Order: sequence, then structure tokens, then C-alpha cells
Amino acid sequence: SITRHYKFDIKLANVTRLCHTKSIVTVNGKFPGPRIVVREGDKLLVKVVNHVPNNITLHWHGVRQLGSGWSDGPSYITQCPIKTGQSYVYNFTIVGQRGTLFWHAHFSWLRATLYGPLILLPTHNQSYPFQKPYKELSILFGEWWNADPEAVIAQALQTGGGPNVSDAYTINGLPGPLYNCSKDTYKLKVKPGKTYLLRLINAALNDELFFTIANHTLIVVETDASYVKPFESDTILLGPGQTTNVLLKTKPDYPNSTFFMLARPYFTGMGTFDNSTAAGILEYTKPYNNHTIITNLPIIKPSLPSINDTNFVANFSNKFLSLNSPKYPANVPKTIDKNFFFTVGLGTSPCPKNQTCQGPNNSSKFAASMNNESFSLPSIALLQQHYFSGQANNGSYTTDFPVVPLRPFNYTGTPPNNTMVSNGTKTVVIPYNTRVQVVLQETSILGAESHPLHLHGFNFFVVGQGFGNFNDSTDPAKFNLVDPVERNTVAVPSGGWLAIRFLADNPGVWLMHCHLDVHLSWGLRMAWIVKDGKLPNQKLPPPPKDLPKC
Ligand code: C2O
Repeated sequence: SITRHYKFDIKLANVTRLCHTKSIVTVNGKFPGPRIVVREGDKLLVKVVNHVPNNITLHWHGVRQLGSGWSDGPSYITQCPIKTGQSYVYNFTIVGQRGTLFWHAHFSWLRATLYGPLILLPTHNQSYPFQKPYKELSILFGEWWNADPEAVIAQALQTGGGPNVSDAYTINGLPGPLYNCSKDTYKLKVKPGKTYLLRLINAALNDELFFTIANHTLIVVETDASYVKPFESDTILLGPGQTTNVLLKTKPDYPNSTFFMLARPYFTGMGTFDNSTAAGILEYTKPYNNHTIITNLPIIKPSLPSINDTNFVANFSNKFLSLNSPKYPANVPKTIDKNFFFTVGLGTSPCPKNQTCQGPNNSSKFAASMNNESFSLPSIALLQQHYFSGQANNGSYTTDFPVVPLRPFNYTGTPPNNTMVSNGTKTVVIPYNTRVQVVLQETSILGAESHPLHLHGFNFFVVGQGFGNFNDSTDPAKFNLVDPVERNTVAVPSGGWLAIRFLADNPGVWLMHCHLDVHLSWGLRMAWIVKDGKLPNQKLPPPPKDLPKC
């Protein structure tokens, strides 16, 4: 293993999409941002220098950060933001992980333009547990706003309404030809008779996305940097924060057409969303004369599941199982020490006097919560408060996050009359090596909606899921404790529930939140505090000298 150095200069760059040129926040002037490639066991040092007026932090989404909690990155959770003119070195080692992850900004809505692939290769002496690909490519899905994304969410929080939806979805930063005035299209150029590994990354802010390539079947082999039992699918669904590696086997001979690849949302919630479609082109390229070929061939367009096809989504997510081979066993906690029940969903908060709000019934503000608690960010990072005071109540957070819902009701039945959420900065404290189970129940208070939930610092096993209300006496018996999929982001199904398990073997403060940025901004988040263990290597080390101050 080696140490890999990257320098990320955060700077403005002019980018044109949909005939609209604007100055955006980038890493090294690139959009999407640069790719990081590292091997399992390598140490990564990323020096981030902030040259823009905005505060920023970066997060290494899905990296376990074992013993390196100061490098995780969510603003006001593990660190204060890197201010203009300041720098910070993210310093961590890739332990026991290989596959596709990504990095993104974790401050306000900056991840709309600050994101890029984070590729974890296996160690030199390991191969993939599937056919060796001829080539590997990253395909990032994103969202483009003609407006400034930070201003979009600031205005929504001010008025209490839903934020303006994006103007386009993108594939590797490009909306593609189905949008008006879209000049550039991502082209995936392939040769016949080969196997390609596509590293799919959903970096969109607010949408789960279906992805498909016309007339080609994809073989899923890995998700969230964990190997799965391979399965075939024409369409892939990715929640924001999810990554999926698929094998694409190209046709044996040159076809007489090119093929669209499409990305479009899956959405069941209320309110407006962008139901447009990003498109790229899969093109079989003959050496030396590709131009005549491209312009003359017809393009075949695939079909996608309907926008609200929850049946497809449930079937698709049930296909994910851990590879669970002798080399890559699924280490599911067979017994648990702590059992939590968290609701996730939307709600409302009061409209300030003398203001008109644009939330539900035009008289409230949208809010979102877990167990009816909408989480407010503290003014000093929680990890600093935790490390230096060692006890909670001196600081601006409390340790009384409710471990069961405060207001039980028939979640997927008639919504309650009172949709108001509580506000606070509440955490759950657990001892080192606690075996945790969390049942997540979608509340359907303001329309049933799927919530892609992300846990920092851990992978978890998805041991069960279903529709309707979780049934305490019958559902646990059906849990899969043998080969459940291991992930860092999973959607709590629209109108349903989900059960996860993880071993809390990583001391620090770890955010858990909906990866739809609008719900995150509305407070659908909470934090776990995992205490130090007894041995020296079970303790959170002191903060690095350059840790930004608030
Ligand atoms: Cu991908 Cu808390 O984020």
C-alpha cells in the first residue's frame, strides 16, 4: 500500500449548459470533478484549498473512515467549514473496501457542482469476483440548475415552500439531446464482443433515477462498494448516494444503430419534480472512420418503468444480496444489543408571524424529521464538542434522541391531524462495538415517499423490508441474516419499512440522513455518537492541527 496525494483547489469556473453560462464552484476547474483512484489499503491525502467566497466541506461518501472521523466531512457534524482562503487535508486509509464510491461537497447544496468518482481498486494480488472487464468507465448522474443551487435552497427555507426543481438531469455532467438547447451529449464508445465495467454513481440532489441502455442487458455485480450475487436487469434504479457496478456485454458484431442510454426519476411523493430525461449515446465505434458511422445510424430509444413504478422498485431492490463467498463473507450481526425504531417522513413547522408561507395549505413551512425530530445543525461541529467536553450537555446538543417514535400512529393509513415536527440537535450515544438494529418506517404524513437513507462511518446490512406498517411480532422472523446486501445508502420504501443492522465499531460522531438534499435541508437527519473502546486502536485520535475552526 502507498500514500496517494491529491490537491483539490476549490475555484470558480464558467460552465455552459442549456444555453446558459454561469460561474460554478468546482474542484480544479472541472465539472464533474476529478476522479480519485486508490487501492484498498492505500492512504489518501487530499489537500483542499478554498479559493471561493462560499464555505465548503467535502465528504468521501461510503468510506468507512475507521479511526479517521475527523476526515468524514459533513459540515457542523465532524468539522467546521473550510472558509475562504483556508485549507484542510483530508487524511484517511481505505480499510477492507473495494468498489465504486464518490466524493461530494457536504455544505448547503454545493454538491450540485462539487462531486466526482472515488474508485477503490482491490489490492494488487486480488482480482474481481466476476469476469475481468475489457475497460472500466464511470457514469455519474447529476442535476443541473440554471440558478445558483445554494440560492434555490436558501429561498425555499425562507418561504417554507418546495425548492425550484432542477433544469436538467445530467450524465457525466451533460443533459443530452432530449433537452432544448443542449449542445453536448455523453457518448460511451464501445467495441463489439467485449465486457465493460460501468461504475454508476447517482450524484443527483433530489431524485432517485432509473437508468437503462436500449437493447442491452446489464449485470449487477457490486453496490456501494460491496460485491453482490450477480443478477441481470435491463433497468437499474439508483437513489442519490447509491453506486452500482454493472457489466455491459457488447453485441458480437457491429450493429446497424446506436443506442440511447436514459436516466429519469422514480418519484411517488407530493409536489413538483423534474420529470425530464437525461440521455447519452452508446455507440459502436469502428476504428478510423467513426464520424460517418455516427451520423448515419438510427438511434434506438429504450423504454423506462413509469415514474411511480413502486412494484418495479421493490422487485429490483429485493434482487440485491451479498456475494457472501468464503473470501467476501457477509458479517451480519446475528444478534443485537440495541433495537431502534425510527420514523422518517415529511411534516411541517409553523410559519413566523407576519409572514406568508408557501408550505402545505400555504400556512406552514415544509419540514422533515426522524421520530418527529427535525435536526438543526449546531454552530460548532459535534465531533469537536464531543471530543473536547467529553459530555454532551455542556454543548449545544443533547443525547436524548427518541429511540422510538414519540407519536405512534397508523403510519401508512390516515395521516395525523397534527403534522408539526419538533426541533433540536439530538443524538443517540452508544458504546463501542454495539450491535445495532434500526427499523425505519416511512410515515406517509404528506404523501407516501421513498427516502434514500445514508449512514456515515458504517456499512449496514439490509435484513428486511416491506410495505405497510412494520409488524413487531411477525416481520423479524422473516429477516435475512445470511446474505443480506451490505450498503451505505438504502431507500426506505414509499409506504413501507426497512430494517438494517450494523456493528458500531467506529468511534466518533456519525450522521444519518435522507440523501435527497431537500429533505436533508428540511431536517431529515440525526447523529450517532459512538464512544471510544478500551484499547488504544478503539479510540478516536486527537483532531488534526489544521482542522477548521467555526
Ligand atoms: Cu453522501 Cu451525508 O452524504
